[in-house]
Amino acid sequence: MKLSIALTAGLVASATAAPTIGAIFDKILNKLSLDQIAKIRGGRYIGTATDVWIMEQDAPYKKITTSNEYSVWTPENTMKWETLQPQQGAFNFTEADKLVSLARKTGKKVRGHTLVWHSQLAPWVEAGNFSPAELKKITKNHVQTVARHFRGKIFHWDVVNEVFNEDGTLRDSVFSRAFGEDFIEWAFRWAHEADPHAKLYITDYNFEGDTPKTKAVTALVRKLKKKGVPVHGIGAQGHFILGNLDGEGMKRTWKTWSDDLKVDVAIAELDIRIPMPATPEKLAAQAADYETVTKNCLAVKRCVGITFWQWTDKYSWVPGVFTGEGAPLPYDEDLKRKPAFDAVKKVLVAGK
Ligand SMILES: *[C@@H]1O[C@H](CO)[C@@H](O)[C@H](O)[C@H]1NC(C)=O
Repeated sequence: MKLSIALTAGLVASATAAPTIGAIFDKILNKLSLDQIAKIRGGRYIGTATDVWIMEQDAPYKKITTSNEYSVWTPENTMKWETLQPQQGAFNFTEADKLVSLARKTGKKVRGHTLVWHSQLAPWVEAGNFSPAELKKITKNHVQTVARHFRGKIFHWDVVNEVFNEDGTLRDSVFSRAFGEDFIEWAFRWAHEADPHAKLYITDYNFEGDTPKTKAVTALVRKLKKKGVPVHGIGAQGHFILGNLDGEGMKRTWKTWSDDLKVDVAIAELDIRIPMPATPEKLAAQAADYETVTKNCLAVKRCVGITFWQWTDKYSWVPGVFTGEGAPLPYDEDLKRKPAFDAVKKVLVAGK
């Protein structure tokens, strides 16, 4: 159409064929990394979970992990309680320190993950049958020793992780059995005292819809903020199953957190798993789901960024945990970009 006008209409042709400023801008954006585009389109970040031991044995993986595609790293496993304090009082920061140090060297910020979580907890915490008073001391010591160790080097902490059941009630754990929900408030106050600069998050899965669970965290965060508890953000993990996204409910919920609760929203552990094998049709549908999540983040004022839970299928946790499912990330096992990568990029370039 444009071409035929150009051929027949002389002067008009140059005006019609000339790319618009917007098109030129998009072309420039397309040459940038996901993180760079997200920064330009609203000051957001793109991050990834990783751990240094993987980078040490896989140079091509390290090259992309340390590249400017991502500006935020979350340690996938090396800051969990079982790793940091495997025996009572015996802290081991070796692997976590390596991650923070490499992150700083390569210009990445770090989302600390996670201070209080019932899972990947060192076995001694439950096995000790501690009194509530003892357990409170142990928990405070863990939170503050870890937060103090990394003070000033962590930009977000996932302070408490997965404290709810699907019906919105408090999950049963060694912590909730001893303290009810009080440990949540304490953990935020302890973490803030130890590292006043870190933004503090409450994080969970199925935090991406309009459900009893998301209503429960909305009510809890409202209550905590009213009491002056330093809670700054809600982390939606974003572990999805292909085709199972509630796009509208997700956006509604995140907007409530952003605009009504006035807390930041981070997509903290994004992956979208596929029933294997991953056919071209399923990869296209997965790309559409990635597009929905990215668009929803851009539509939410205080959505600060998106972190993939690893960026390549080669190192995803999914196949090891969900039998018959896999391929949940924007790069395949050969570190090649998938349609999901292009979909995220397209949305970021468009800025909506
Ligand atoms: C601390 O962790 C490192 C890395 O996993 C390990 O090599 C080292 O043996 C640990 N140190 C102690 C005292 O257990």
